[in-house]
Amino acid sequence: MNRPAAPRLITGIAELREAVRAARRQGKRIGLVPTMGALHAGHVSLVAASCRECQFTIVTIFVNPLQFAPHEDFNKYPRTLEADLKMLAGEPVDVVFAPDRAEDIVNSSQATFVEVRGAAEPLEGKSRPSHFRGVATIVLKLFNLAEPDVAYFGEKDFQQAAVIQQMVRDLNLDIEIRVMPIVRESDGLAMSSRNRYLDPEARKQALSLNRSLARAAELVAAGERHADKIVAAMRAVFATSPDVQLDYLVLVDPETFAPVTRIERPTLAAVAAKVGSTRLIDNRMLEPG
Ligand code: PAF
Repeated sequence: MNRPAAPRLITGIAELREAVRAARRQGKRIGLVPTMGALHAGHVSLVAASCRECQFTIVTIFVNPLQFAPHEDFNKYPRTLEADLKMLAGEPVDVVFAPDRAEDIVNSSQATFVEVRGAAEPLEGKSRPSHFRGVATIVLKLFNLAEPDVAYFGEKDFQQAAVIQQMVRDLNLDIEIRVMPIVRESDGLAMSSRNRYLDPEARKQALSLNRSLARAAELVAAGERHADKIVAAMRAVFATSPDVQLDYLVLVDPETFAPVTRIERPTLAAVAAKVGSTRLIDNRMLEPG
C-alpha cells in the first residue's frame, strides 16, 4: 500500500474531517495517536504501532488547557512543532493535526465535560483533581474529530489509559484502546516531555523513581510479598535524592487502583514525585511467581 513520504499537516477542523472522510471512504482502518507534542521516543513507539496496525495514522498535537490546574505548567509546556514533525519523519504518518486556533477545540463557552469516576479518583485524581476531567473531555473531542478505529496511549500514564478505557466502555465508543509499554532512556528514566525541564543534577536524582520500582521488582522476585516492606524499601531509595519530593508511592490493584497489602497477583507499583519543580510519574507491574 502507498504510504505518505511526509505527513500532511492539518491545522483546521474542517480539513481534518475531510481527510478522515476520505480515508473512511477508502475503507482504511484509522489509528489515532493523541499527544501534546514535545515528542520523544515513547510517542514514536505509539506512532509506529499505529502505522503497523492501521492504514491511516493521525497524530494530534495539542497542549490541552483543560488538563492543567492554574498553578501547573500549561504556559511553559514545550511547544516544538517543527522538531515534532522531524521526530515523526521516520514513520509513514498520514496526518498531523496541530490546530492553529486553540479556541476551535477548547473555549470559554464550553459547558460540557466528561467526568469519569472510579479509576479517575485515586492517585493522580487526588493530586490533580481536575486533570482527568480535562483529559477525558479532550480525548473524546479528538475521538469525535478523528473517528479512529484504534487509539494509542502510553503505559507511563497507566491511570490515564485506564480512565480512557472506562470512558470508552461507559459511552459505548467503538474504539479499540491500545496501551503500549513505557520507553525508557538507557539509564532507566521513563521518557517524558517534562524531562526536558530537568537540569543535570535533577536529571540524576530523577532516576530514583525508576530505581525504587526496580527495587520493588527485585524484592518481589526474591519472594517478598508484604506490601509495607516493599514500600519501605522503595522509600529508602529516595534517601539519597534530597531534591525529590514524593507525592505518592503505592502498590495497587491495576484495575481498581485499590491499595494491596500482599502481592499475590500482578500489582501496580506507581510513583509520583516532584524533582525540583518538575512533577514526574512512573510505574511498573510487579509479577509474583
Ligand atoms: O498523554 C497526553 O499527552 C495527554 O494527556 C493527551 C492524551 C494527549 C490528552 O491531552
